[in-house]
Amino acid sequence: MWFALLMRLVSRFHEPLVAARKRAWLPRLSGRVLEIGPGHGVNFRYFPPGIAWTGYEPNRWLARSIPLPPGATLHTAPYTGQPGVYDAILSTLVLCSLPDPAATLAALFRSLRPGGVFVFLEHVAAPAGSPLRARQDRLLPLWRACAGGCHPNRDTEAIIRDAGFVIQEIERFHLPLSLASPHIIGLATKP
Ligand SMILES: C[S@@+](CC[C@H](N)C(=O)[O-])C[C@H]1O[C@@H](n2cnc3c(N)ncnc32)[C@H](O)[C@@H]1O
Repeated sequence: MWFALLMRLVSRFHEPLVAARKRAWLPRLSGRVLEIGPGHGVNFRYFPPGIAWTGYEPNRWLARSIPLPPGATLHTAPYTGQPGVYDAILSTLVLCSLPDPAATLAALFRSLRPGGVFVFLEHVAAPAGSPLRARQDRLLPLWRACAGGCHPNRDTEAIIRDAGFVIQEIERFHLPLSLASPHIIGLATKP
């Protein structure tokens, strides 16, 4: 339950910082959309009309506060590669805390139809050798313990590419968020 409370606090600060970018990128989702880790449903306000949404949110405290629109399907479980074929996949601030990101990305890749899109917004590792990266590496155990398994030093962009996705567009930017300040937002496709 404490993680659900923490997420609400984090969202209150984080959401205004990314709202303009989400307004630009999330309307590019269409058709059957899989959202991994929707939290308490922060992304619904950005979705275009007419999508068929399926979410996997293992935290039951968060899951039960999602304002589900009619027709949406929510599984209160982690996404681990359950069968399904989607036109689009969305992840915001989730890949940092997956225990086995390569395995989950591989499963997401399998679930996306060829030509489908993967939209992501994630905080990521600072460049190797930078002072921030040294701090991310040093403070990883403490940060991970306090922030629900989050890895501030994860090279998520490389993990997305290694899973087979082709990144078509990406923006790298910084927010005033300490170890979690480097961010990426982008769109990848499955060839
Ligand atoms: C940091 S929160 C981000 C929530 C929301 N996407 C946002 O942008 O505010 C990470 C979320 O991912 C969920 N999560 C972690 N592992 C997951 C998995 N394997 N499948 C689905 N959700 C997962 C957590 O329960 C949590 O709600």
